[in-house]
Amino acid sequence: MSNQERGAGHAVPPCALVIFGAAGDLTKRKLIPALYNLARQKLLPDEFAIVGCARAELDTAAFRAQIASEIERHVPGTFDPELWKWIEARLYYVSGDFGEPHTFPKLKEQLADLEKRHGTRGNLLFYLATAPDFFAPIATALRDHGLVDESGGLWRRVIVEKPFGRDLASAKALNANLLAVLAEKQIYRIDHYLGKETVQNILVFRFANGIFEPIWNRRYVDHVQITVSETLGVEKRGGYYDRAGCMRDMVPNHIFQLISLVAMEPPISFDADAVRDEQSKVLRAIHPPTPEDVLSSAVRGQYGAGGINGRALPDYRAETGVPPSSHTETFVAMKLAIDSWRWNGVPFYLRVGKALAARKTEITIRFRKPPLVLFRNTTVGDLHPNDLVIHVQPKEGISLRFGAKVPGARLELGGVDMEFDYAERFGATPATGYERLLYDAMLGDQTLFQRADMVEASWSVVAPILDVWQALPPRGFPNYAAGTWGPREAELMLERDGRSWRPIEA
Ligand code: BG6
Repeated sequence: MSNQERGAGHAVPPCALVIFGAAGDLTKRKLIPALYNLARQKLLPDEFAIVGCARAELDTAAFRAQIASEIERHVPGTFDPELWKWIEARLYYVSGDFGEPHTFPKLKEQLADLEKRHGTRGNLLFYLATAPDFFAPIATALRDHGLVDESGGLWRRVIVEKPFGRDLASAKALNANLLAVLAEKQIYRIDHYLGKETVQNILVFRFANGIFEPIWNRRYVDHVQITVSETLGVEKRGGYYDRAGCMRDMVPNHIFQLISLVAMEPPISFDADAVRDEQSKVLRAIHPPTPEDVLSSAVRGQYGAGGINGRALPDYRAETGVPPSSHTETFVAMKLAIDSWRWNGVPFYLRVGKALAARKTEITIRFRKPPLVLFRNTTVGDLHPNDLVIHVQPKEGISLRFGAKVPGARLELGGVDMEFDYAERFGATPATGYERLLYDAMLGDQTLFQRADMVEASWSVVAPILDVWQALPPRGFPNYAAGTWGPREAELMLERDGRSWRPIEA
């Protein structure tokens, strides 16, 4: 399908979607609601079916009832019983252990039956929403049962959820195992940050406008800063989180996606590989930190008890599933350098963490100050920096801050914002963030999915930091109270460079 057809919003071709690990929250809260939203926009064909596959001993009727009991809550304001009936009639369940030999023949039989019943024509999309240990065994079993064979003009694709490895070696091993049974063009490594409208808009903003690109470089940009702050603690995911930590959970995936879109060169086209080639180049150009860099340019933190918006949070170490002596970080701040002509000398600062003062994801491009401060003998104090801020969530939009004269006889400058607000301009579009990603996977467009080399390049950057951190256990954890902006060292890291984090309203 061409880019033009894609843009025209055609329904996807006939197919069946199989979700492994369908008993988990992702299916109820995100995937089925996303399919519902796609159906509402008429982007799914009649010849469509969904098969949930998990260990839980359920049948199709019980699975349908389970999903039905929650769907209304996850498509707020747009629930239509007729549309739900349409989805429900296409929803099936196969129970089975992914390590058991009977599971896959049973699944294959179900799929053959659906092909007849719903006309899905043998096209299959598998979604691996399981624990990562199952990714490679499931892909291998699918190959062994002929379920990823694309001969005869049909397509078979596999979406792989995160975490994609826990270090460079395991990511490489997972890539090798998947590539032994699938072609790269069949593998869709998903990162849900790329499903966010504002993240997709970075490409449009940069490359569909003539005015920003000429100043998008080291001559005009002082630095870039990215904040991804969450107010929640680890909630019920302590077991997973304590093994992963903030770095693995957020940085080589979500945050590096943001960096690659902000920092990439213009691609030669919007084809998947052209875009991903440029993203990959940026990731490979991030300077791998030396152990000395890690000590001065990477900060880790763990939250202690505190309060956020009147809600009390316990010590991270007191959360369910977390050992009382845990050394796992729940906060990371870093300064990265990108070794490229465009970005040489422009630091990229990032901070990300749980239990912080506000929920906010934003990217700030801070421009250099004017070369000459003409106002130095006036009452004007410091000039306001020109910040271009991409607001990813919860508010979605873009703002540009500049200095303006405050009305009156005195010469006084004020910082003002020119703002674009998505919801105000386009109205709120009900979405889970998975619609576009599922739609693209069914169309065969890999642009918003990570390629093997991108994943490996990202791990190569964070690996040296994780190594140093492992060798030097943190002292003084917990080192920030829940409800603050993280450890003081994160502020100091910028202060040492004569900079500061953009203030964010709590
Ligand atoms: C997930 C992480 O990938 O992203 C979570 O595992 C994190 O720990 C979440 O909370 C953040 O996603 P979002 O879309 O809420 O920013």
